[in-house]
Amino acid sequence: MIRLVPDQSSQITRTEKVEFTFDDVAIWGYAGESLAAALIRSRYLHLRDAPKDAGPRGAFCLMGLCQECVVVLKGQTVESCRIEVQPGITVTSLRYGKDD
Ligand code: FES
Repeated sequence: MIRLVPDQSSQITRTEKVEFTFDDVAIWGYAGESLAAALIRSRYLHLRDAPKDAGPRGAFCLMGLCQECVVVLKGQTVESCRIEVQPGITVTSLRYGKDD
C-alpha cells in the first residue's frame, strides 16, 4: 500500500540566493547551504577526476567522509559538502590534464 504524503515543500523557508562561479559558469545557491548541494541542484555532478584513471567523481556521502566531492577554491582543494556557498566565490573542478 502506498501512503500519499501531502506536499509540504511550500513551507520550507529559504535564505537569499547568492551567485558564485563553477568552472567559469555563474550559478547560484542559497546562502548557508553547502557548495555540494548547490552544485547538485545546478546539475553539476562531475566535480573531480579520479587520480588513477581520470574517471568522473562527485558527491557521495555529503558529510565529509568520502572526499569524492573535492573541488578547488582559492587554490586549495576542499570538500564541497563542507563549504558553505558564499557570494562571489570562484570554484573549479579538479581535473587532471585540465589547464588551470
Ligand atoms: S560528499 Fe563525501 S566528503 Fe563530500
